[in-house]
Amino acid sequence: MADRQRRLVVVSNRVGPLNDEGKAGGLAVGLSDALKRRGGLWFGWSGDISEEGTFSAEHTEVQDHVAMTTIDMNQEDIDGFYYGYANRSLWPLLHYRLDLAHFDRQSDRVYRSVNQRFASRLAPMLAEDDLVWVHDYHFFYLGSELRQCGYEGRLGFFLHIPFCPPEIFTALPASHDIVRAMLAYDVVGFQTETDRRNFVAFCIRELGGEKLDGRRVRVGDRTVLAQTFPIGIDAHGYSRFATSPEAGEHEEMLRDLAGDRLQIVGVDRMDYSKGLVERFRGFERLLEDYPENRGNVQFLQVAPLSRSELGAYVDLRRELEELAGHINGRFATLDWTPIQIMTRGFTRRALAGIYRAARVCLVTPLRDGMNLVAKEFVAAQAADDPGVLVLSRFAGARAELSDALIVNPYSTDDIARALQRALTMSFDERSHRWEHMREAVFAGTAAHWCDDFLASLESFDPVTPETDAA
Ligand code: ADP
Ligand code: G6P
Repeated sequence: MADRQRRLVVVSNRVGPLNDEGKAGGLAVGLSDALKRRGGLWFGWSGDISEEGTFSAEHTEVQDHVAMTTIDMNQEDIDGFYYGYANRSLWPLLHYRLDLAHFDRQSDRVYRSVNQRFASRLAPMLAEDDLVWVHDYHFFYLGSELRQCGYEGRLGFFLHIPFCPPEIFTALPASHDIVRAMLAYDVVGFQTETDRRNFVAFCIRELGGEKLDGRRVRVGDRTVLAQTFPIGIDAHGYSRFATSPEAGEHEEMLRDLAGDRLQIVGVDRMDYSKGLVERFRGFERLLEDYPENRGNVQFLQVAPLSRSELGAYVDLRRELEELAGHINGRFATLDWTPIQIMTRGFTRRALAGIYRAARVCLVTPLRDGMNLVAKEFVAAQAADDPGVLVLSRFAGARAELSDALIVNPYSTDDIARALQRALTMSFDERSHRWEHMREAVFAGTAAHWCDDFLASLESFDPVTPETDAA
């Protein structure tokens, strides 16, 4: 086995695309970058809602050595599993938003049942020496369901979003079941040390587990490796996107529109975790407190719609559109519109051009697992005119990108001050900060993330003590 590479089997709710189509979501982007290199099977939801029986249609498409096998679900499953449990219970809770979390028995049931049915569809496709890697909060139970089906091979899990402290997570009625189910995996990966520590604390305080040497955790007869693997982007590939003709066209268009004005951009799915309301208020505060910027900066927020069937997302869209209208109404002149919001998708090349035209990129989530936009912005910059990254202290990317201007995303004043500093920063300081961030983005790529995780999954031995205590 040692000289033959094991087959990689990736499971995630969203599958693909592997090409440059616009696709808003860090998971799909990170996994495409990693899978294109290694090949394997990618299994998940087709994105389609089937009118016939749920799980009836299975589709397979092979591209770049990756077989993408997907299944359809019906409306009831999507409502309970995807909208209900994953995005009304787990997403807000894990992002520390207990105020937005809803819990109900029906969604809990459907979520478990969908995990079970995904497992029973996948189990017959697996070989014992595959490396099975399950992704994100949609599939906490999938590993234990695969074990129920008799699968004994290696199982890894990676959480792309934060893992909140036990004080918050215990509000979920099924919190114990979920963490116990996570223990069916051999390796459980997190974006940051904070997330990993929160998980370990839950295991110890709530389940009576113990921390062994290094990163091993034992609960009852299960020992898992809980480790941090910060996700990255294909930094070389992304820099090439940024110098492509399509990027060039978008960069030029935006620069022409801006004229002498400095461009500020934000690029985020329209999600309450991204701190967009606070960010818009921060921009308004900039125009209030530093009036020299009036007429001399413009802010483009790209915010593709996401999960728009859910009330919290509908409310957010309304609030943002009203806020943008209010700011424009208050400050616009005949020849200047301070803020523009766009909900359309772009190709990755086009987006790279938009980043390149910007003097400042605002990445100010209230809580974010990693945030790949921050890394893409850095990779897209040109050495002769690098832009400045304003980054939330609550984004996972902050651990690697400490040369950004770090802000408290809840503080309007802090955002305004950081914006003013970014807009007036000397070329030398911009360059210096960018060089450091660029090194970090090129050092921690999607390929490293994938290789590190799979190496741990392959080599982890639950019985042998680890030497490097974390
Ligand atoms: P999240 O995973 O929460 O959406 P990330 O910042 O980690 O946040 O990842 C977002 C990904 O979606 C990035 O790769 C970004 O380029 C992409 N993206 C965001 N907005 C758009 C858009 N309008 N068109 C295409 N891709 C987008
Ligand atoms: C985040 C999550 C992903 C999810 C993506 C887009 O990146 O970690 O699992 O795919 O958001 O959200 P959506 O609900 O459209 O899949």
